[in-house]
Amino acid sequence: MKKRKKRKMTTVYLMMGVVVLSLVIGLLVHYQLTAKQTAVKEPVTQEKEEKKEEIKEETKDEPVQEEDEQQVEEVQNEEEPVNEEEPVVEQAPVVEDPVYEEPVQEVPIYTPPALSAEFSDPYSLLVVANKKYALDYYFEPTDLRVVNATGNRTHYLRDCAASALETMFVAAAQEGITLVTCSSYRSASYQASLYNNYVAMYGTATADTISARPGYSDHQTGLAADIGDHDQATVFTQAMENTVEGQWLYAHAHEYGFILRYPKGKEWITGYSFEPWHYRYVGVEYATAIYNVSPDCTLEEYFGIEGGDYAY
Ligand code: DAL
Ligand code: ZN
Repeated sequence: MKKRKKRKMTTVYLMMGVVVLSLVIGLLVHYQLTAKQTAVKEPVTQEKEEKKEEIKEETKDEPVQEEDEQQVEEVQNEEEPVNEEEPVVEQAPVVEDPVYEEPVQEVPIYTPPALSAEFSDPYSLLVVANKKYALDYYFEPTDLRVVNATGNRTHYLRDCAASALETMFVAAAQEGITLVTCSSYRSASYQASLYNNYVAMYGTATADTISARPGYSDHQTGLAADIGDHDQATVFTQAMENTVEGQWLYAHAHEYGFILRYPKGKEWITGYSFEPWHYRYVGVEYATAIYNVSPDCTLEEYFGIEGGDYAY
């Protein structure tokens, strides 16, 4: 029994010894591990501390960055007035306005072909005055004289035209035809007053079909005459076409050097309505040649000169 007790006691002591030893070993191990962790952690902490210091050092520079930001902000703030100057952008369309005007500027003003002196010299018997070709506004022939022919007032034509008209009137009278001078040379200023009256009465579009603008009138050449018949009711009317006087002129005027200047059906080239009363002196040679083409042949058609409406 004693031996059994001794064995039990020995076993208990051994177990207690093992337990105590285990505790001691555990403590030692724990201590060593703690020591190691501390040793490992410290450098990291140091590194962190160093990094923190670096960051602190870097953050010491932050004011510079802040200044930069401030500068950026200041720059941005400085640039803001540019944004505030947006009205400049709003003014852009104003700058672009000339672009819209360019097509207008690019549209060329039509210039008809230049005429030779035969048709542009105001003293030439073939001088052309139509809606494409104007005379000098101040042109006034120096050889104007009073026409010695029947008329309601004093009329002036260039000497050659006046002589031809007088001869024609005498010839017509010998056949029982009484012709009357109704209009002759007209200065541009007088033409202006006539034209303006027509514009006031009928408007520009209609006025332009019956009256020349100043500078564009055949009457300013001193070679044109408006001829009336004995019946004042038909003077300056297309009804004159069917009067004996109108028919005599239509058939014989070329023999004295005159052509019907604004024939019926030729409005597209003369630019004016039919005027059975308006005759233009070009000399017997050309008047006969033109008449032989047709009594309604125009100066423009015969010589290939541009007519029609105004160029602008
Ligand atoms: N009646 C013509 C066209 C003129 O005024 O000259
Ligand atoms: Zn006339």
